Amino acid sequence: MRPRTKRPHSSARPKPKNAPPPRNVEVEIEEIGARGDGVARMGDDLVFVPFTVPGDRVVARIEGRRGEGLAAALIEVLVQGPDRAEPPCPHFSRCGGCALQHVDDAVYEAWKRNLLVTQLSRAGLGAVPVGPLVRVPPGSRRRAAFTFARRKNEATLGFNARATHSVIDLESCLLLEAPLVALLPPLRRMLVDIVAANEEGDVTVSLTENGLDVLVEADARLDLFDRERLAAFADAQDLARLTWRRPGAGFMDPISRRRPAIVRFGGVPVEPPPGGFLQPTKGGELAISEAVLSAIGPAEHVADLYSGCGSFTFPLAVQGRALHAVEGEEAPIRALEAAANAEGLRVTAEVRDLSRRPLLAHELKKFQAVVFDPPRAGASAQVEFLAEAGPKTVIAVSCNPATLARDLKTLVAGGYTVEQVTPIDQFPFSAHLEAVAVCRR
Ligand SMILES: C[S@@+](CC[C@H](N)C(=O)[O-])C[C@H]1O[C@@H](n2cnc3c(N)ncnc32)[C@H](O)[C@@H]1O
Repeated sequence: MRPRTKRPHSSARPKPKNAPPPRNVEVEIEEIGARGDGVARMGDDLVFVPFTVPGDRVVARIEGRRGEGLAAALIEVLVQGPDRAEPPCPHFSRCGGCALQHVDDAVYEAWKRNLLVTQLSRAGLGAVPVGPLVRVPPGSRRRAAFTFARRKNEATLGFNARATHSVIDLESCLLLEAPLVALLPPLRRMLVDIVAANEEGDVTVSLTENGLDVLVEADARLDLFDRERLAAFADAQDLARLTWRRPGAGFMDPISRRRPAIVRFGGVPVEPPPGGFLQPTKGGELAISEAVLSAIGPAEHVADLYSGCGSFTFPLAVQGRALHAVEGEEAPIRALEAAANAEGLRVTAEVRDLSRRPLLAHELKKFQAVVFDPPRAGASAQVEFLAEAGPKTVIAVSCNPATLARDLKTLVAGGYTVEQVTPIDQFPFSAHLEAVAVCRR
């Protein structure tokens, strides 16, 4: 887990040195870009205007350069495009959690799927079949990383505001499962009690089978009295587990474990480490698992790379296959191992940094199928060796269409055919997209 660096209290990010002077312009929005902003053309420049839709004529304030164009703020909508919708959340446009609540649903769906189509075509994979968008409904996010800022007599707690480091004090959220939203007010009161003024931190909350699992990361030296108050908070909120971690501390401080914080993968109970990665929604996890299971074929020996706690290891292992799970972090792989041993499954587990020490071609030879699910940066080092080793089936799971397309290109150059890519929207209202790609050789 990354050490916390203290954030500046300021609101806006610093402007780049070559930023053009701010000025108001009138532009017409032509399309929605990859980050969810409306895109207009002004001479040779693209202008990115948030919260706009194609057909809008708007006044926008140019605020700086952004990649291949100019970043602008929306000042006024002069003429509304046909695809506008009323944003359902009161925090929308200030909260950084959502970028697209102001767009008609059918337009949103087409745009989301197109994020993947565009990246594949940029990588020269335009002919790859892309399935319809699998949609996970809002309100089903079971895991969230909140941020908080403790001020004089209060704590603001929620998601970061759009494009700033300030915190939106979340009262409601369309994305989250209800128990996560219900925890916010008591969590705020607890932070005021325990954390000193002007401190900032993070709280990761996951909904498990036995209730909420809460990890607070904040710089507070907990005395006995604090610990008693925290334990009382865990009791009052009926938490499964409450853990504290001070920034820079190499250990987790277990405050209360009232019940095991269990999640099930393929029916197998696993207790992830505090704050450990989970697919953000159960629906998304199941959609990915189904895509993996339906494509895996008769493979007996399967490697699950970037396995986390085993979202895909277990659904495959309970079918009687031999699984080798590889993960960079020690804690999740130990949780996976303990769960596999308790069930007597054919699972081996390895802690390994797959960027620096990818599985080599001779190590991959024994697997008929490999599943990999890397972080947003993708798996460029690992796919080189997959392309060389050539297991019959390779299934890529990804939360970043750009790095997925790059990794698939490497596999195709190594002789694979991409049979099917399934886009899965488990990040509604945002520009993030999950996808599963099935490659065969
Ligand atoms: C997107 S998550 C997927 C986890 C798991 N497949 C799941 O669905 O829950 C990516 C995983 O890769 C791990 N990871 C990140 N960088 C890694 C690296 N260089 N080597 C191995 N694992 C890494 C993370 O710890 C995380 O568990």
